[in-house]
Amino acid sequence: MKLCVVGTGYVGLVAGTCFAEVGHDVICCDIDEQKIAGLRKGKLPIYEPGLDELVLRNVENGRLQFTTDLKEGVADAEVCIIAVGTPSAADGSADLSAVFAVGREIAKAADGYRVVVTKSTVPVGTCDKLIEIFKEHCEHDVDLASNPEFLREGVAVQDFLVPDRVIIGSYSEKALDTLTELYKPVCKENQPILRMTPRAAETAKYAANAMLATKISFMNDLANLCEKIDVDVEMIREGISYDHRIGPHFLYAGAGYGGSCFPKDIKALVQVGHQYDYNLRIVEAVELVNVEQKKRLFQKLTKHVGDVKGKNIAVWGLAFKPETDDMREAPSIPLIHSIVEAGGTVQVHDPVAFETAKPLLPKEGVTYVDEPYAALEGADALVVVTEWKVFRQADLEKVKSLLKQAVIVDGRNIYSPQQLKDMGFVYDGIGRSA
Ligand SMILES: NC(=O)c1ccc[n+]([C@@H]2O[C@H](COP(=O)([O-])OP(=O)(O)OC[C@H]3O[C@@H](n4cnc5c(N)ncnc54)[C@H](O)[C@@H]3O)[C@@H](O)[C@H]2O)c1
Repeated sequence: MKLCVVGTGYVGLVAGTCFAEVGHDVICCDIDEQKIAGLRKGKLPIYEPGLDELVLRNVENGRLQFTTDLKEGVADAEVCIIAVGTPSAADGSADLSAVFAVGREIAKAADGYRVVVTKSTVPVGTCDKLIEIFKEHCEHDVDLASNPEFLREGVAVQDFLVPDRVIIGSYSEKALDTLTELYKPVCKENQPILRMTPRAAETAKYAANAMLATKISFMNDLANLCEKIDVDVEMIREGISYDHRIGPHFLYAGAGYGGSCFPKDIKALVQVGHQYDYNLRIVEAVELVNVEQKKRLFQKLTKHVGDVKGKNIAVWGLAFKPETDDMREAPSIPLIHSIVEAGGTVQVHDPVAFETAKPLLPKEGVTYVDEPYAALEGADALVVVTEWKVFRQADLEKVKSLLKQAVIVDGRNIYSPQQLKDMGFVYDGIGRSA
């Protein structure tokens, strides 16, 4: 099948490449000329494990191309996939300007029947609006569909090639049949391809993210209580995770959720509620807990080292989670700004996120260190923000010998409180007791 994927970011590039990998002919299109020029030379704009090999292989075998010319992409495509960003607008709702701009462009470029699919995360009613846009700008018969994406950064290739399920929403049976064919080689292990209306598909994506974010904020809320009642939140996690109705996943207390999806999607869902005159009280609370949770690391740091003015703090991990360079809404951002604004300096190490982090962090007061242990030298404390494997497996004796004060604030609960206490550290995790 011939495809055009518009928007070559974390979702579009992974989707386009994986569709090529399973045998489709794909043109990936983006307005960012630098991105496309880099991709044509085999340079990926993002860090995503395993993606570079797949891009190279499929470019070489001729199934994957890159262009800035949307018309060229749409010319032969049977399916056009919109995968552009939908960031938060000022009021928290999803900014759909890129989705609608691309919709209009595809509408004008299409010279016959196409299935036009929104893979971007968009609020209920967006497909209906795109149908109107196509009526206005396209002379041809075109079917619109919603196909939300559920991949996780860091394991995006695997998630795309072996999805838990695929959701396709359209009013057209023909479009649903086309999308079922498109996904057959991806769903070869009998993963369900769920057909529904576009409005249900759009809402299912927000519901999934809201449920996942709820689990995180729930555990963070409990962790904060645990600190007051001398209970280790890890015991609570274990205690509830064997209950089949709850399950073991996404029950980790930490520094608050970040990334390009949860924060903006939670806000957008709340706005959808307001638009339909309904207060999603649980979802609002999830957001509130998360905003407060992101302040915890700095609060814990000052509890142990006092005023950070003139102090040097080591930070391990910048990206919002391991195995990605995505810095959007990462808890490291408010932490580092708080330290620098209070007169401290920071030595940071992250395996891949320096380039994406630099524009979001203070211009002065932050030193980027290529090696994790070098970031500890002479520091008054270590704050662990991202649970990269290299930090989990750290030589803690070495950590202690390099730090000026043996203080660790563990925003991801990757160390044993008892072990660190026995080693002479002042250790503070999230909801831990020792
Ligand atoms: N990142 C994730 O983990 C993830 C997972 C599931 C769903 N989503 C959703 O997928 C969508 C895309 O997310 P992302 O993380 O890939 O975003 P991104 O910012 O990484 O990529 C978006 C791309 O779209 C391009 N673009 C913007 N306007 C364009 C236009 N008019 N024409 C062509 N290209 C244009 C940008 O240059 C950029 O390369 C969002 O709605 C997001 O919520 C993201």
